[in-house]
Amino acid sequence: MKRYEQFAEEIAALIRKRVLAPGERIPSVRQASRRYGISPSTVFQAYYRLERQGLIIARARSGYFVREQALRLPGEPSVAAQRLDPAEVAVSELAFSVLDSLRDTETVPFGSAFPGPELFPLARLAGSMTRGLRELPATAIVADMTEGHADLRRQILLRYGLNGLSLAPEELVITNGAMEALSLGLQCVTRPGDLVAIEAPAFYASLQLLERFGLRAIEIPVHPRDGIDLEVLEDRLARYPIRACWLMSHLQNPLGASLDDAAKRRLYALLKRHQVPLLEDDAYAELYFGTRPPRPVKWLDDAGLVMHCGSFSKCLAPGYRVGWMAAGRFASAVSRLRLMTTIAPSIPAQVAIADYLRRGSYDRHLRQLRHTLQSQQSAMLAAADRYFPTGTRITRPGGGYFLWCEFPERVDSLELFRQALKEGVSLAPGPIFSATQGFRHCARLSYGHPWTARSERAMETLGRLLASF
Ligand SMILES: Cc1ncc(COP(=O)(O)O)c(C=O)c1O
Repeated sequence: MKRYEQFAEEIAALIRKRVLAPGERIPSVRQASRRYGISPSTVFQAYYRLERQGLIIARARSGYFVREQALRLPGEPSVAAQRLDPAEVAVSELAFSVLDSLRDTETVPFGSAFPGPELFPLARLAGSMTRGLRELPATAIVADMTEGHADLRRQILLRYGLNGLSLAPEELVITNGAMEALSLGLQCVTRPGDLVAIEAPAFYASLQLLERFGLRAIEIPVHPRDGIDLEVLEDRLARYPIRACWLMSHLQNPLGASLDDAAKRRLYALLKRHQVPLLEDDAYAELYFGTRPPRPVKWLDDAGLVMHCGSFSKCLAPGYRVGWMAAGRFASAVSRLRLMTTIAPSIPAQVAIADYLRRGSYDRHLRQLRHTLQSQQSAMLAAADRYFPTGTRITRPGGGYFLWCEFPERVDSLELFRQALKEGVSLAPGPIFSATQGFRHCARLSYGHPWTARSERAMETLGRLLASF
């Protein structure tokens, strides 16, 4: 056991024995480093691990605290075991029928992929759009179409820079959301029939794209806390001619798992050895609950193999459809393909976001958003603890707005989905996250909308329906 794991275990034992009580502050990094004679970075690593285990939480400027429900929570799901041979993908129909059901605004949106619109500064963005467009030189409305709005490019490059990555400007391609970035990247590095390594469970739109482009999936299991299983990936890379790997190193959708730095290094070394390009989907990058932004695999990319995809959809401007890709050696192929398909993302949307970022309240908004999501997560976990049957296992992600629930085996989540919808509650059933329609007794629940008495009643309804299986 490494020193930080040992130290994390010591603190976890204190929490289990209630020597450190729920809600209590734990020693600061400096105090712990002095008291236990270990380096501050070892303490940080240990606290990060405890955070990911759902035992402690970080509060901005106040330190680390024992989580209120640290002791009562249901256990976490086990590693997702799946069939691991290459598979044709057939998930679109099912995913579309689930997505259709989310349109009804009367339904409690636990199945939704977006947080509540009230959590976003939409009025300020509208102000930024008006002001930005008024100030935009007439020539830019056309000229910016090729490379993207110059000011937005600067702002995105600046955010990479502040997080320690000095990105070559020519690598950056502005796109219609992360979805277009991912789709273009995938098309640039694969041909129909190729094999692509993906996560199991995976974001359903990645499965739909594989299906659409006639690609075959190699599903790699994801551990609900530690991320993709690198042993399995290593084995599959050695055995199959995999053309691309598509994954989320951070706040994976739907599990919320994140790779630690050592795992990211190992992953990158593996991909580099096999010269397999990585589509790194980082749509939830800004929604971490810890104190520091994590660094994606892209930060290790000295060979231009990683296509790092980001988006403003989940953290600032849903519906504006602005995302980007730091596309490494594939940048020029990706931007040409974009010109041939959608030409460019909307300039007014880019102008609005650039103006908003320039005015400097983005980080304040993000802090508030993370705080809100974190307390909504606590509320949903507490409700699950109250209403869901024993044997239910639930993730405790360190960010984002999804919980992944593994119900007792007898539960059929598609049937649960149908019954819940009749009672005005949506959810995302497990099979839409699998190329082979696995995870039948699992579901993803969103806590991205403000928590109200209605949410509480919806959890009670789910609990009642679950009990009837
Ligand atoms: C994991 C993941 N990647 C990408 C996207 C798409 O993002 P965008 O709205 O920027 O296209 C989503 C949206 O649901 C997502 O959950």
